[in-house]
Amino acid sequence: MASVEFKTLNNGEKMPFIGIGTWQASDEEIETAIDAALEAGYRHIDTAPVYGNEQAIGRVLKRWLDAGKVKREELFIVTKLPPVANGPSDVEPTIKKSLADLQLSYVDLYLIHTPFSLYTNEDGSFKLDEEGLMTPDLRTNHAATWVEMEKLVAEGLAKSIGISNFDKEQVGRLLKTAKIRPATNQIEHHVYLQQRELVDFCNAEGIAITAYSPLGSRGIAAFNAAAGLVRDLPDLIEIPVVKEIAAAHGKSPAQVLLRWIIDTGVIAIPKSTNAGRLRENLNVFDFKLTDAEVAKLLALDQDLRVCDFAFFHGVERHPEFRFKNQYTK
Ligand SMILES: NC(=O)c1ccc[n+]([C@@H]2O[C@H](COP(=O)([O-])OP(=O)(O)OC[C@H]3O[C@@H](n4cnc5c(N)ncnc54)[C@H](OP(=O)(O)O)[C@@H]3O)[C@@H](O)[C@H]2O)c1
Repeated sequence: MASVEFKTLNNGEKMPFIGIGTWQASDEEIETAIDAALEAGYRHIDTAPVYGNEQAIGRVLKRWLDAGKVKREELFIVTKLPPVANGPSDVEPTIKKSLADLQLSYVDLYLIHTPFSLYTNEDGSFKLDEEGLMTPDLRTNHAATWVEMEKLVAEGLAKSIGISNFDKEQVGRLLKTAKIRPATNQIEHHVYLQQRELVDFCNAEGIAITAYSPLGSRGIAAFNAAAGLVRDLPDLIEIPVVKEIAAAHGKSPAQVLLRWIIDTGVIAIPKSTNAGRLRENLNVFDFKLTDAEVAKLLALDQDLRVCDFAFFHGVERHPEFRFKNQYTK
């Protein structure tokens, strides 16, 4: 079993540097994958209600906990307040639903999934306007939602609280009123989208960064296609410099991409449902990149976002939506 290193968060909690991402996997795939991940030594699992798999994950966790194969305190479970319900009154009922589905009494980290919000109908479907676009919920108030997030810590429902997809201005604004500083900001972060200014700002403020889509979200093409989006996305695994560095260390390109992230103190949550690739992604603590290799990887930055949320058609009309539109000019 791979031995994993930990990042100490601003409240003293310890978060494994590598976790398993769980977006875009069926219940069946994720049950098998979580089993394989726990066998391989993963203890950090990243999920969200919008991934639709909390119940499946909960079933595996219950089996492992009941069998005494893992202790609750060894696990680091992250879930999120969804983009379709992130007002203050949504916080407590939504985490309670996640906890019921995960069959847990607390999560280790609860994140506001996005700084923006969209309306849904009573049946959970997106509320569309007359143009067929998703309707932005303009009541968004991060400070008010954060007050309710802070209560979760006091109530013991979340050990740590944080944010996701917040830009520098949004983080700074939240810090002006927050009594509990966010433990992490989970953002897209990889060699082609390094977001150095945001990463440095969060680090200086004691907010750890979690890198999502650390391998460039290789499965997002199908998701985008289903939403009618045409995207010419790069494959980070195929970047020649990454391949060269991998060969020099006898490692895979994915391991180099992940090692580069954790070398800078950033946590990474690669998703895989393949047992071999899950082991590969965790097996990154036994080598180190040279300064010259790090410099080559830093030079790859293209400010290229793969997960731009354009699949939420109309979301760009929300004032807290800040991702630039780089695909349709
Ligand atoms: N907060 C947010 O808004 C947000 C947004 C996006 C993602 N996330 C979180 O971050 C996690 C990771 O991001 P992601 O799923 O977008 O993308 P990712 O982890 O960058 O890439 C996953 C893709 O890479 C493949 N893969 C995994 N390991 C590999 C390896 N060693 N070699 C080659 N290919 C490999 C996977 O296929 P196989 O499964 O077939 O191995 C899958 O297609 C998500 O699952 C989710 O938990 C959060």
